Amino acid sequence: MKLLIFVQFYVYYQLKMKKLEHILEKHHFKTSDIIQILQDIQVEFHYLPKEVLEYASQRLRIPLSKIYSIATFYTAFSLTPRGKHICTVCMGTACHVRGAATILNEFERRLGIKSGETTEDKNCSLETVNCLGCCAIGPIVIYDGKYYGEFKLKNVSKFLEEKE
Ligand code: FES
Repeated sequence: MKLLIFVQFYVYYQLKMKKLEHILEKHHFKTSDIIQILQDIQVEFHYLPKEVLEYASQRLRIPLSKIYSIATFYTAFSLTPRGKHICTVCMGTACHVRGAATILNEFERRLGIKSGETTEDKNCSLETVNCLGCCAIGPIVIYDGKYYGEFKLKNVSKFLEEKE
C-alpha cells in the first residue's frame, strides 16, 4: 500500500515538473521572464505550488527567497490552492457606495464561502480587490479575468448559473 502511494505521488510529481519544464522552455529559461513564468505557473496550477517554485528556483538558478518575494509582492499570485474559477468583487470606495458589499454578501451566500475562500469542490474562489481604476463603471465583478461593470445584485444567481 505504501509503495502504491509512493508511486502515485512520484507520477503526480513528474507530471507537474513536466508541465513546469514546458513553461520554462517557452520562456527559454530566461530569468528576466520570472514574472511571466510565475503567471504561467499560476494559470497551469491555479496557484503557485511550493514544490514547483523549488524546482523552478533550481532550474533557473534564482534563489527561492527571490521567487517568494515576487510571489508575495503581487496580490495576483496565490501560494495556496485556488479554485478553477476566480470571482473577484471590487470593494473600492466608488464600488462600495454603489452596493459592492451587498453583492459580495450575495456571492458568499450563493457559493457558501467567505471572501478569500474556495468552494469545497475547488470550482470557485471568491476574492476582493480595492479599486481596479475604472470606478465609472462600478460596481465591478471580475470573473476569470473578464470585467463585468455596473453589476446588479439581482444578477448574482443568474450570473453564477451561467458560469457553471
Ligand atoms: S472602486 Fe471599484 S473600480 Fe474603483
